[in-house]
Amino acid sequence: MLELSQIQSNILREYRHGTAPAFVHFIFLRFGDATDARALIKTLHPMVTSCADVDEGVHSVLNIGLAYPAVEMFGHGGDARALNERDDEATGTIEAFKCGMRARAVKILGDDEDSDPEHWEEPYAKGRLHAVLCLNAHTREKIKTNLDLVGAALKKYPSIERVRDEAAADFGGERAGTEHFGFADGIAQPSVLDAGEPNYAGSGTPGKRRGWEPVKTGEFVLGHLDESGQVQFRSEFFKDGSFMVFRKLQQHVGRFREYVSEMAARKGVDPELVSAKMVGRWKSGAPLMLSPKKDDAKLAADLDRNNDFRYEDDREGKRCPIGSHIRRNNPREDPTGPGTIQTSKHRIIRRSTPYGTRLPDDAADDGEDRGVLFVVINADIARQFEFVQQNWVNSVLSSTALTLPADRDPLIGRQRGGDEAGKFLIPTAKRGTRPIVAWGLPRFVTTRGGEYFLLPSLDTLHHIGQNTRPPVDPEGCDASDGSSHTEPAAEAQPPPEPVEPESLPEPTAATTETIPAAEAAPTAEAAPTAEAAPTAETTPTTEATPADSASTEVE
Ligand code: HEM
Repeated sequence: MLELSQIQSNILREYRHGTAPAFVHFIFLRFGDATDARALIKTLHPMVTSCADVDEGVHSVLNIGLAYPAVEMFGHGGDARALNERDDEATGTIEAFKCGMRARAVKILGDDEDSDPEHWEEPYAKGRLHAVLCLNAHTREKIKTNLDLVGAALKKYPSIERVRDEAAADFGGERAGTEHFGFADGIAQPSVLDAGEPNYAGSGTPGKRRGWEPVKTGEFVLGHLDESGQVQFRSEFFKDGSFMVFRKLQQHVGRFREYVSEMAARKGVDPELVSAKMVGRWKSGAPLMLSPKKDDAKLAADLDRNNDFRYEDDREGKRCPIGSHIRRNNPREDPTGPGTIQTSKHRIIRRSTPYGTRLPDDAADDGEDRGVLFVVINADIARQFEFVQQNWVNSVLSSTALTLPADRDPLIGRQRGGDEAGKFLIPTAKRGTRPIVAWGLPRFVTTRGGEYFLLPSLDTLHHIGQNTRPPVDPEGCDASDGSSHTEPAAEAQPPPEPVEPESLPEPTAATTETIPAAEAAPTAEAAPTAEAAPTAETTPTTEATPADSASTEVE
């Protein structure tokens, strides 16, 4: 069974409960020395929320993520490196985590041209971050109180630099679950085995007789069985943690609306249909697979139905184009999609929120910065997030005549100019009519920065704060070869003196041995990895007939 009181809440619980608004804020930190950093973690530990807390009705959430330099600083680099030596399958993730997002951006994530890290915002563009504090609350007052508390704690440690805050948009609760292009977001999420959440139809892995199985726990919580039948991350330090991908994605809303309306006018179709075909859902969230001709708000709101579909009945993408955003990013059992690739090994949990103000419906672009604070939870950054981004968002799919060369994700893909300008094929339902080909897709989304973080268990955070080492649990993670306990002997440090903000409860009692003195965190840029994430079949597709002049009736 999962120890939900050990698992940080944002791993298995979403911020928004039903339609309640969520106020979301991220604080990014650089640590100057390990003593202050440990003291901060000890101070904040009682506020850190677990999944069990949320289940008991706590809606005011603090989660702590650590980037690799912090793991190294706390003396656990060996735990991470040991995984590489012991477990081939984990190599990619530790490599990704260790190098950080910036080093993987160009070659793996497709962040080129405007999205190139050269153009990222600070502090993402230079140096490494050490930590992120993720705060969520259901009222504006509560998030302010929590920000004040955390801010007061941070001020006590001069060596800790608060390098950036990212606040999600405050829409006062209205349309909070709608991203800036106008679509309901956060609908389809994997259901996770033993997570204690409802297993809505469509959210797991396609099973027998059109049923759905929850995705194995180890795909999202470290130290548990995953879809390959393996327990990766056999180290107490990592157990019950997960990895969090943070990516700031700017949306060019004016450009998107202009493109859609021009394309619709040229083809003589409804602009709502063009944008729905790009996403795979209507703006309300109703899936094209279940409602191909018109939006259906009732279906969108029905959790038992709004995700209950497969693509096997739509081999040619006449309802939901093969290249649409949702079909690429979770092809389910799609016979025309990634073929032999087992989709269940590439699932991600999304916890994104919009930032910036809304562009009013009929307004021209106002040049304001707006987009998504895109957050992914996954156990293996390379096999899950990076795989999806590299192979399903940014590669041409291998579905022969059903997609086009340069047919990347029409919503978020890495489109380029000239010959490489994006194309998107919208097959039509009526026999004898030719598909719509959307030409010259520009880039609608630009990367502004990001980083990879570990979300350690409550116990691991406790040990970091106390400067002690988690005990080896013979029943739990197998660390019996000792490779997760191979830090060189060093002088033990006394546990740091935390500063307790008045209203925080006392931290729980310390246990076990003291770990070696902290190493200095590497601040230099990590060497970029040359290796790409595992590749899907990305055989070039056969060119489909451009059909500008043809009849373009779409279902
Ligand atoms: C500005 C950036 C993005 C926007 C506006 C956006 C928007 C959307 C929307 C409207 C949906 C359909 C509703 C839902 O199921 O939540 C969706 C689904 C999804 N998106 Fe995105 N998305 C963005 C970035 C990404 C990225 C970078 C990835 C992956 C690397 C991604 C992966 C997914 C997945 C996996 C689904 C669910 C598919 C399914 O299970 O059916 N999205 N997104």
